[in-house]
Amino acid sequence: AATSKEDLRSPICCIMGHVDTGKTKLLDKIRQTSVQEGEAGGITQQIGATFFPKQAILEKTAVVNKDGSYEIKIPGLLIIDTPGHESFRNMRSRGSSLCNIAILVVDITHGLEPQTIESLNLLRDRKTPFIVALNKIDRCYGWEPVPNGGFRESLAKQSKSTKSEFDDRVRKTILAFAEQGLNAKLFDENDDLRRNLSLVPTSAITGEGIPDMLMLLVKLTQERMSGNLMFMGELEATVLEVKVIEGLGTTIDVILSNGRLSEGDKIVLCGQDGQPVSAYVRHPEVKAALGVKISAPGLERALGGCRLYVAHDDDEVEVYKDMALEDLSDLSRFINPKAPGVWVQASTLGSLEALLEHLKLSKTPVRGSGIGPIYRKDILKAGLMLRRDETAHFAVVLGFDVPVDGDAADYAKKEGVKIFTDETIYRLGDQYLAYYNEVEE
Ligand code: GTP
Ligand code: NA
Ligand code: MG
Repeated sequence: AATSKEDLRSPICCIMGHVDTGKTKLLDKIRQTSVQEGEAGGITQQIGATFFPKQAILEKTAVVNKDGSYEIKIPGLLIIDTPGHESFRNMRSRGSSLCNIAILVVDITHGLEPQTIESLNLLRDRKTPFIVALNKIDRCYGWEPVPNGGFRESLAKQSKSTKSEFDDRVRKTILAFAEQGLNAKLFDENDDLRRNLSLVPTSAITGEGIPDMLMLLVKLTQERMSGNLMFMGELEATVLEVKVIEGLGTTIDVILSNGRLSEGDKIVLCGQDGQPVSAYVRHPEVKAALGVKISAPGLERALGGCRLYVAHDDDEVEVYKDMALEDLSDLSRFINPKAPGVWVQASTLGSLEALLEHLKLSKTPVRGSGIGPIYRKDILKAGLMLRRDETAHFAVVLGFDVPVDGDAADYAKKEGVKIFTDETIYRLGDQYLAYYNEVEE
């Protein structure tokens, strides 16, 4: 693999943490500012992943890197957003397995929460270097914002009482990290990135501390990622999500961690049914790290979370087909097609996994599942449960974040199959449990 200076790879950063700590808002703030500054074209936003080119990083960090005294060498940074809700452990795990570095977001007013700890452990297990964004500093009483300012500059402007509330919350957070066996320090008091965890105070609302956060990410990458990780190498790509998009059909969102993908490349990946899937790339060459959306016939069977291979000839196709199948994620541990159970349908494979996880916890058996809208065929399958009285309460389709095809709703009514849909997994599960209890009486 080429390791010339021009062939530096952009590292992948994952943003993790407990629900509602401000992960997406932090990313939004960075993107928004870019839009305001007329950089929209300079930032590629796809999937749950946003690419920040070097130029954007340079501009965003200018207030804390006056006259560019710290040299930014990486060509950019790909940041993957993950959900904090507890049901989405699979997606956090997938995100953390793809990234080189990470940001763990903590709400300064809440401290460490259950999914903070879960994320922390995922990162530690994989030895991924990470920093902590201590977010929502603007919630400290009497906080006077300095929009998009560097953290120290902002803190200096605060009143004595606001400062002391802030100090107190930082102290508590440091103690909580100590309980987890981590030595945390405010980022600019940390002189050893290897031994101590850096805390960067931020506000996703006012933008304060975000320049420091980006600067620290660059330093962490440049100082902690080992040499060869920085350079372009063999193709390494993972299917992040499988989505049905109107007009495009089934698309796969791919994280290209290393190497290149070019137009005409034949990709091979694993299908949900355990059969290999192959398709041609139809977009111009892209270089790692990047999120790319691929649409091609045949992708409806693609399985999220699996690796993607590029074959150059027919022999390679066969080899990669075998390799791709080794990646088969086991949806089967949630589903028993031979036993009575409900039918479930979700918008993406990631959310389907999360829904299955949730149903398993509430002990709702599942007989089959799919991705995308609820069609007549799904009603038909659920309707099989009506054949016996004891299984009639499983004649149900649970749809998470999916539309019901017009015809399917009428058909379900006629057949006596119940459809429940919702945009949150919890409410959907609760809807079914309420129905179950009702028919049991
Ligand atoms: P999930 O993806 O659901 O895990 O949440 P998240 O971590 O992405 O949080 P999100 O960005 O959705 O923000 C949650 C709420 O907190 C929203 O109402 C935000 O407006 C608010 N919020 C986020 N960051 C800040 C902040 O720095 N200050 C204040 N005051 N509110 C914030
Ligand atoms: Na949220
Ligand atoms: Mg979010």
